[in-house]
Amino acid sequence: MARTTITTQVAIMGGGPAGLMLSHLLAKQGIDSVVLEIRSRQEIQETVRAGILEHGTVNLLVDSGVSDRVLREGDRHDGIELRFNGESHRIDFKELVGESVWLYPQTDVFMDLAARREADDGDVRYSVTDTSVSDPEGTPSVHFTDADGVDFEVRADLVVGADGSRSQCRALIPEAARTRHFHEYPFAWFGILAETPRSSDELIYANSEHGFALISQRTETVQRMYFQCDPKENAADWEDERIWAELRKRVNGNGFELKEGAVIDKMVLPFRRFVQTPMRHGKLFLAGDAAHTVPPTGAKGLNLAIHDVSVLFEGLDSYYRTGSTDLLDSYSDRALERVWKAQQFSYWMTTMLHTSADSDSFSRARQLGELNSVVSSRHGMAYLAEAYTGWPGHAS
Ligand code: DHB
Repeated sequence: MARTTITTQVAIMGGGPAGLMLSHLLAKQGIDSVVLEIRSRQEIQETVRAGILEHGTVNLLVDSGVSDRVLREGDRHDGIELRFNGESHRIDFKELVGESVWLYPQTDVFMDLAARREADDGDVRYSVTDTSVSDPEGTPSVHFTDADGVDFEVRADLVVGADGSRSQCRALIPEAARTRHFHEYPFAWFGILAETPRSSDELIYANSEHGFALISQRTETVQRMYFQCDPKENAADWEDERIWAELRKRVNGNGFELKEGAVIDKMVLPFRRFVQTPMRHGKLFLAGDAAHTVPPTGAKGLNLAIHDVSVLFEGLDSYYRTGSTDLLDSYSDRALERVWKAQQFSYWMTTMLHTSADSDSFSRARQLGELNSVVSSRHGMAYLAEAYTGWPGHAS
């Protein structure tokens, strides 16, 4: 059967937050794009992901006209609590660096972006199959089959791989032209959603001899929590009581008591870090999880993806307005600068807060020394606060 040909300026592989945000920013400048996504809109909407947005991410969502729902329905958080040795220590973001973050789940970011693209008649195709990209160095084109089984060819000036951690696009960069940094941690997070009121006003990041725990939130009646576990654990083996017993051991004490309730969702999340450099090859540009993954401690993943596309957008906008490729040529270096800062922050938070099976008495005491050196110093707390809320320079 003959393929139907679509001609566009930018073919965007992946309709998660990164792909949709880029397509939205381009559309505002009159630059045409087609977004291809293998998952259904429903499936993406139902995937539970992290929930913390840096102020720069929030500004971009609001200022670019995606939606201001984050300001109305999200919760602004001006600090977090670091808990260790049975004591909580507040890191006051607002006071230390004058910034905040917003608790607003990634699923809501996706829904806002998908709704905006739909309202603006953006060309976003979900549930596509058999995607393949050819000639990313010369005359790029993308083949795909749409949800109705119709075969298409997209001819584009440039291709963006925003196709997530299982990216097909990153493999298009030949081995000789790229470097991959990959590490799988020897632990994972057990994540739950539970029907219970909030236990605390702010998020609690807890280091305990039994391992890490994170008490996060979702709504008045549903909360999100995580605890460090063996990556081989099977979530289905965990009854509610066993989950609560594990969380209690790690956070309760000295007057603090977790509010418990029915566990309505549970999953084991692998812990990896990954970076592929460079993030550009010929006419192919990688963005978000396609190029990098951070361990989840500190919730940098979505924020980084949004930063990538805002930098990439500047390059594309400048190229289509002036013909200059300067900002496209510097995209990879500029995006990677923040990627490595975020890798460092996520690595640091992870190492400082988790326990490892082979840690001896020195490592444990050193870890507590590190935590103490952070919370007893304004400089230490400000370093954490600046990284957590997002370093300056978030393009928006
Ligand atoms: C959440 C996840 C994180 O990894 C984090 O550091 C903070 C919050 C969350 O899902 O709410």
